Amino acid sequence: MPIKTIIEPFRIKSIEPIRRTTRDERQQILEAAHYNVFLIDSRDILIDLLTDSGTGAMSTEQWAALMRGDESYAGSPSFGRFRDSVQSVFGFKHVIPTHQGRAAERILFSTVCKPGDVVPNNSHFDTTRANIEFVGAEALDLPIPEAAEFSRPHPFKGNMDVTKLKDTIERLGKSRVPLVMLTVTNNAGGGQPVSLANIREVKAVCKHHDIPLYIDACRFAENAYFIKQREENYSNKTPREIAREIFSLADGCTMSAKKDGLANIGGFLCTNNDVLAQQERDLLILTEGFPTYGGLAGRDLDAIAVGLNEVLDEDYLHYRIVSTAYLGEHIAREGVPIVQPPGGHAIYIDARAFLPHIPPLEFPGVALAAELYLEGGIRSVEIGTLMFAKRDENGLEVEGPMDLLRLAVPRRVYTQSHIDYVVEVILEVWRRRESIRGLALTYQAPFLRHFTARFKRKHA
Ligand SMILES: Cc1ncc(COP(=O)(O)O)c(C=O)c1O
Repeated sequence: MPIKTIIEPFRIKSIEPIRRTTRDERQQILEAAHYNVFLIDSRDILIDLLTDSGTGAMSTEQWAALMRGDESYAGSPSFGRFRDSVQSVFGFKHVIPTHQGRAAERILFSTVCKPGDVVPNNSHFDTTRANIEFVGAEALDLPIPEAAEFSRPHPFKGNMDVTKLKDTIERLGKSRVPLVMLTVTNNAGGGQPVSLANIREVKAVCKHHDIPLYIDACRFAENAYFIKQREENYSNKTPREIAREIFSLADGCTMSAKKDGLANIGGFLCTNNDVLAQQERDLLILTEGFPTYGGLAGRDLDAIAVGLNEVLDEDYLHYRIVSTAYLGEHIAREGVPIVQPPGGHAIYIDARAFLPHIPPLEFPGVALAAELYLEGGIRSVEIGTLMFAKRDENGLEVEGPMDLLRLAVPRRVYTQSHIDYVVEVILEVWRRRESIRGLALTYQAPFLRHFTARFKRKHA
């Protein structure tokens, strides 16, 4: 019989202790953090599933690469290795390093967008949306309708609704749509993949209207692995070949190397357009740094150069996708409502369905995050009414399109027993869900309010 157990495809060479707290301590910590888990010190967290961004463990090869890092201000060989590694996977002519993904977004949108423009995407992530809105343009989400049916599986829920894209461009005219984006995998939509068939269709619409297509590439390798597993004619291709095909259809990309770059910091912006690249580099020098380091240390560039190759290893990707699904399957089979099928980097609990007695304007996702912390010291993040911060024409707060709780799994950090513990904690909270109360906002910032918002508990 073939052995079925999926093991972590690495040994642990260096360990980092994690600290247990008592329930009483956690209650006090939660109150001091105003029920916002972003405001809790990481030393008070046992299992941190806040984000998969920059939280991964580097390999021995990456640590060795750090020592090769050359810290020359201009023309560092670390940049050469970084650029070659990016080009070997992504294939774009210009590679502009940035300190993380949002810096690439800011440079891109402030170069190509003007007030009144509209940028369609399958779903914009929060920083993408904020950077587009910051330059006075609109960030428009066009997911396929199936993406809203959380409990119904679909192989490519991250796909864009191509009919809506066509209608949008025809209604607005090409002059108001400076670019179209596709986020792979679709983080805000549940970590769900986009199929190559969909990318090709979107590209055809863009080409017809002469509009550039950009990929938000943060989790490109996970998306490539899903394509290999689920899309016809791709099972014999390597993740690298699939990634090359994805990017061959695009005119540029933004990337946070903190995800599928397997690095703790870094990002980049790519384009094939010489004029645009020049304008972007000029802006880069103003705010990030010289074009051969872009806000990163030479050692970071080297770590990313290695990470981009390691992330495409099939053994790694298999373990990554299967171990994330393990968490989802073990809570779903006890009735916990999750976005189905499990995403690549995270499990998304449908907090509205988990806590139907808490109205969206009392932030069920935030309340559930607070409860998982209280129960077991686990940190997660709301993707819902708090994060989307929607208002009606009178400026009054309205509910977000969804209220999800994301449990993002850092890369190569936790073992199966950590995940078994997380399952146990979630199921305990599930059993006592009816006693959980909603929250009321006591402070919010004008942008990206979820990072610093404060709450008080609603009375029973
Ligand atoms: C899909 C997506 N795009 C962009 C970003 C922004 O990247 P960064 O956090 O490196 O600025 C993120 C980060 O979580 C993301 O998930």
